[in-house]
Amino acid sequence: MKALILVGGFGTRLRPLTLSVPKPIVEFANKAMILHQIEALCKIGVNEVVLAVNYRPQLMSAYLEPYAEKLGIKISYSHETTPLGTAGPLALARDLLNDGQPFFVLNSDIICDFPFGDLLAFHKAHGKEGTIMVTKVEEPSKYGVVVYKEDDGAIQKFVEKPQQYVGNKINAGIYIFNPSILDRIEPRPTSIEKEIFPKMAEEGDLYCMPLDGFWMDVGQPKDFLSGMGLYLNSLKQKAPERLATGPGIIGPVLVDETATIKPGCLIGPNVTIGPNCVIEEGARLVNTTVLEGATVGKNSWIKSTIIGWESTIGKWVRMENTSVLGKDVHIADELYINGGKILPHKSITSSIPEPEIIM
Ligand code: GDD
Ligand code: MG
Repeated sequence: MKALILVGGFGTRLRPLTLSVPKPIVEFANKAMILHQIEALCKIGVNEVVLAVNYRPQLMSAYLEPYAEKLGIKISYSHETTPLGTAGPLALARDLLNDGQPFFVLNSDIICDFPFGDLLAFHKAHGKEGTIMVTKVEEPSKYGVVVYKEDDGAIQKFVEKPQQYVGNKINAGIYIFNPSILDRIEPRPTSIEKEIFPKMAEEGDLYCMPLDGFWMDVGQPKDFLSGMGLYLNSLKQKAPERLATGPGIIGPVLVDETATIKPGCLIGPNVTIGPNCVIEEGARLVNTTVLEGATVGKNSWIKSTIIGWESTIGKWVRMENTSVLGKDVHIADELYINGGKILPHKSITSSIPEPEIIM
């Protein structure tokens, strides 16, 4: 079976991280976002993944090739010279995708338990052209809203980013389609949500299946951190052995085996610490992601923050309110950072008392 992952777009909402690395390979819970998806696809027998890329394809392939080999799958790249939106890439990759079988399509920035096996079974059972997964959210306006018949899942209406309330069941960004969908799409910039789904729904060819468990679009910092919390809580239920334990750990916390946590720290809940990170004595971390190679200085207090690769934070620093440090950022001792978004390679020597982008 095949799958296509939409990995275009510039990831602007996840800046400053995406100034250094394409969004799909930013590590979420110590693993590139897209690898969570590829591994789950592999598990149910997908053996070829097509990445629809329009931004730094070389970076992506250099990163993913070793994993493809390890997983024993083929990863192909369908490179757009101009962004084709969320449907155009399917038409562009037509020959790579069409082997007469249904194929999966995924947004690259969503995280959940990926029940692809259930989705495939449901899709085959109703026999129509497409099935999308839906989930319930409190704030539907930033998603695609789906209205459907509860008894069989037939979609009656699909409205992308509605201005007025339509419902609270939304498109989770996980689809399976019969190859006949390819006849609806041309290789030009096209939105699957605005131009293809409403038509399919009208024709009775689009069904949906409710997604169990957690779900989050982790394409912006605040949601990235909430999604991390949901993911770690789900790990606590399903694979508690992967979580850190011991004095000073308030679970759930995920720590790479090459990271060092010095004595007297208090870590958690909802913290991930990547490879080769160093957390110095007495640091306090809560609801925070620390990416590979970063250091947190003694007695610093870090809450709701993403610390970029190789960044260093001094002693007695206080950071909170969805602060995001890009790659290789340095924060001097004793500063207060409140919601600062700090671009890569910056050295910060004075506090940021109000949310601000530091260029
Ligand atoms: N190849 C390619 N080319 N991919 C693209 C392009 C493009 O021009 N534009 C966007 N993408 C990819 C993004 O990388 C992402 O994986 C996916 O398409 C969706 O784009 P987003 O920019 O993340 O859309 P969104 O989050 O506002 O809304 C989408 O996701 C929601 C769920 O998270 C929609 O599908 C909504 O209906 C949905 O509810
Ligand atoms: Mg998104």
